Amino acid sequence: MVERDSFGTRLGVLAAAAGSAIGLGNIWRFPYILGKNGGGAFLIIYLICIVIIGIPIMISEFIIGRSTKKNAIGAFKKLAPKTPWSIIGWMGLLSAIAVLSFYGVVAGWCMNYVVSTATNTFIGKTAQDMTNIFTSFTSSTWSPILWQLLFMFITGYIVVSGIKDGIEKYSKILMPVLLILIIILDIRALTLDRANEGLKFLFEPNFNQLTLNGVFIALGHAFFSLSIGMGTMLTYGSYINDSENLKSTALKVCIADTVIAILAGLAIFPAVFAYGIKPDTGAGLAFMSLPLVFQQMPLGNLFGALFFILLTVAALTSSISILEVIVAYFTEEYNFSRTKITIWGASFVSIIGIICSLSNGVLKKYTIFNMNFMDLMNYLSANILLPLGGLLISIFVGYYMDKKIIITQLYNNGTLSNKSISLFMFLVKIVSPIAIIFVFLKGIKII
Ligand code: PFF
Repeated sequence: MVERDSFGTRLGVLAAAAGSAIGLGNIWRFPYILGKNGGGAFLIIYLICIVIIGIPIMISEFIIGRSTKKNAIGAFKKLAPKTPWSIIGWMGLLSAIAVLSFYGVVAGWCMNYVVSTATNTFIGKTAQDMTNIFTSFTSSTWSPILWQLLFMFITGYIVVSGIKDGIEKYSKILMPVLLILIIILDIRALTLDRANEGLKFLFEPNFNQLTLNGVFIALGHAFFSLSIGMGTMLTYGSYINDSENLKSTALKVCIADTVIAILAGLAIFPAVFAYGIKPDTGAGLAFMSLPLVFQQMPLGNLFGALFFILLTVAALTSSISILEVIVAYFTEEYNFSRTKITIWGASFVSIIGIICSLSNGVLKKYTIFNMNFMDLMNYLSANILLPLGGLLISIFVGYYMDKKIIITQLYNNGTLSNKSISLFMFLVKIVSPIAIIFVFLKGIKII
């Protein structure tokens, strides 16, 4: 039997779970999909998804994880032996591979931008130059792959060193620094000329701009950004001590995640409008706009480099949580050594990541449903696999799981007040499943 690790302190739990949630999803993915889907109205739908679906599903994952103290597949095997429920865990494993494959590529881009910013590459560049630089870098063959492999290596290294010494130690120090840096960036961006237009775009809801597909994308992003629907929070939940309050942990993580996404939008959209970049530019949006803001700051190259370093760290605290889903499963169910399975898992994901990276360049012409391979992994995981996983988790907790276990977990054996149980059950039984099914069927155009 492998000795199970657990989080050392209350702050450690929070930092690790928030570290998983806060990452490229907030600073890279959220602004560009909001830009593609019309701005303010998308933000409102996104916030609704967080509140009525995200929070209850995160709590559900914590409940399943902590009550079983098992990995994403083992947990369902324990709670529902000899039933097909463990399929949720299997889907989670698949999602983990898909997400990490393109996540590593984008994190590699960030690392490259650390060097470019520090060496003044972007000084004096226009928005058009920034677009060209981004496109030529991401479509090149070797450089993005080498950065991606370096990122995956660091991810593996931290995962091997275990929960307390690895994940927890790094998250605790570095997340607050990132927050401060984004706020400094916001101040600079908001004082640019035409910053108002950016603010308007982000906050003024124009529902004519919002399509049903936009709602579908918002739902998928809520899952992606909160790291739910694939067993990540379930796995982290299994490391949470019995004395922690699961509800308040989930609530704090969701608030922190949302605040960072909005703060990122506040840095990016004023710059987008100030420099005449199209808000619906797509995946390069943050990489094209933020370096232009740094140019306008004293010691801009220093700030810029520091920002991309911290963004890489934020990506790391997320990527380790994704790899942990795979590692926890194989170490616990098959007694693999942590080091061995981390090396195998990270290598396998890296190979798929290489295909993702090449699909922006030499493999660009091979598309499926009009998407290159990397976009396909991104779409498939965030918009299909995670919401589907979340749907099954909410049905599992709402209808199958023993209510006594839910109550014990929510109220820590009666030591916490139990006012919100009916609200929680209503959300997981009725609201989340219906909302997900409805948006999902509309999104994939079945109804
Ligand atoms: N939530 C992370 C982010 O926003 O960057 C990405 C992520 C981590 C997605 C873990 C899914 C996951 F299980």
